[in-house]
Amino acid sequence: MAYMLGLDIGTSGVKALLVKDTGMVVGSALQEYPFHSPRPGWTEQEPEDMWQGTIIALGKVLTKFGVDPKEIKGIGMSGQMHSSVFLDSNAQVIRPAILWNDSRTTKQCRDMEALVGRDLLMSEACNPALEGFTAPKILWLRENEPENFEKLRWLVLPKDYIRYRLTSEIKMEISDAAGTLLLNVKERTWSRRIVDKLDLSMEILPPLVNSSQIAGEITAEVAELTGLVQGTPVVGGGADNACGAVGSGIVQTGRAMISLGTSGVMLAHLDSPSLPTGGTIHMFNHAVTNKFYMMGVVLSAGLSYRWFRDELGQMEQIVGAQLDEDAYSLLTQQASLSGPGSQGLVFLPYLTGERTPHGDGNARGVFFGLSASHTRRDMVRAILEGVGFAFRDSLLLLRNAGWQGGAVRCIGGGAKAKLWREIIASILGLQVQTLNTDEGPGLGAALLAGVGTGMFKDPAEASDALLTVTSTVDPNQEWAKVYRDLYSIYQGLYPALKPMYVKLANING
Ligand code: XUL
Repeated sequence: MAYMLGLDIGTSGVKALLVKDTGMVVGSALQEYPFHSPRPGWTEQEPEDMWQGTIIALGKVLTKFGVDPKEIKGIGMSGQMHSSVFLDSNAQVIRPAILWNDSRTTKQCRDMEALVGRDLLMSEACNPALEGFTAPKILWLRENEPENFEKLRWLVLPKDYIRYRLTSEIKMEISDAAGTLLLNVKERTWSRRIVDKLDLSMEILPPLVNSSQIAGEITAEVAELTGLVQGTPVVGGGADNACGAVGSGIVQTGRAMISLGTSGVMLAHLDSPSLPTGGTIHMFNHAVTNKFYMMGVVLSAGLSYRWFRDELGQMEQIVGAQLDEDAYSLLTQQASLSGPGSQGLVFLPYLTGERTPHGDGNARGVFFGLSASHTRRDMVRAILEGVGFAFRDSLLLLRNAGWQGGAVRCIGGGAKAKLWREIIASILGLQVQTLNTDEGPGLGAALLAGVGTGMFKDPAEASDALLTVTSTVDPNQEWAKVYRDLYSIYQGLYPALKPMYVKLANING
């Protein structure tokens, strides 16, 4: 038997996914690692935790499925986008990674616009300067931690760092490089013009590799540590959203997905680069060579739900542990007892600022309309609906950019909740589909390894052959009516609160 392995270096942990050479998913193992928020708006993780998590997840998946490591023919990587791993000249990590949902770089984004100019940014990086992206983090380092900036020899992203630990080769893969703002997206090369305008060195940028190109091999030391076989090829892989798109068949025009992970992503395939006009809609290189995608990003989708579970859902956590049931599913059952519109409670999911549509690191979460008659169940439902409204903001921008589809495929942890899918379908007026597998990024990464090692011809073909739609949810017209009215309130809240967000940010320093 021959297998491929997909490693997804996420924000809550690393997932190792085992896939047969037929494309059939065998199973996965997850290892969580810590997430730090040292100050409001700052989010960081230790790359060493990601590496230790990878070793554990690899061990778990090999033991769980009793696979002979010799049968693993290739490994593919997927990972959280934009998060900066800064390495010194000995390839040692200089400081904790600054994550994709960190909002400390508002000033550096404005600096970047001034230094590079919006025209060059849009024509080469094809995206505006937004807080989560990587280049503003380098400027922040230069300005705020000059002693660390002095040491900077290599910039890599989480999955490229883990690939480096596996293979000893420092490379960056193109779909992820697109999220740095330093790539010429259409030319698929580093943008010397942008790098020069920022007065950075081209030397810090690793050689680029394609998603399904072999980028290195498992070293003897890693073989010893993990049980993997020395010489096993490791391909470039892709950004988690690009891999999620491959793993859910978003590989042709008209197809789109919603990913309900820590972030919420609404992504549509593009055959050719089309510059976003919606300001905060992103356009990046796909993991399918020479294809692209556009997407809107809700920074705190699953994160809002996790926040509620952790801070206000202790009861469900205790009962869940006793009944061997997931606390989220108990909370979702509660939410189903509230009505559409959560009895007039509206939630803005801006716990870590918002990327699409506001591009505002100062924005913060809000429960609006809270009254003495509201219960916890209304609050849970308002969170699910608030994330749905945030997707509606992205949908409007994708429509303006030309997306004409009528259905979305839904992946990620949140996709398991049927109620959430029903709410999203009714808010968006789209059919929400689920697939025979919802492994998204891990599956995409494994398929890329399959292409790189000659098992498949092309990732798009491989994922299309493998995936089928197994459930559909259509909009509930009664709910849709309620949501239309509430969405107009939702839309009005951000502009009304914007000056208060600025004041609050000043108070918080
Ligand atoms: C995309 C983004 C997030 C992360 C999550 O631009 O920032 O979706 O990729 O891992």
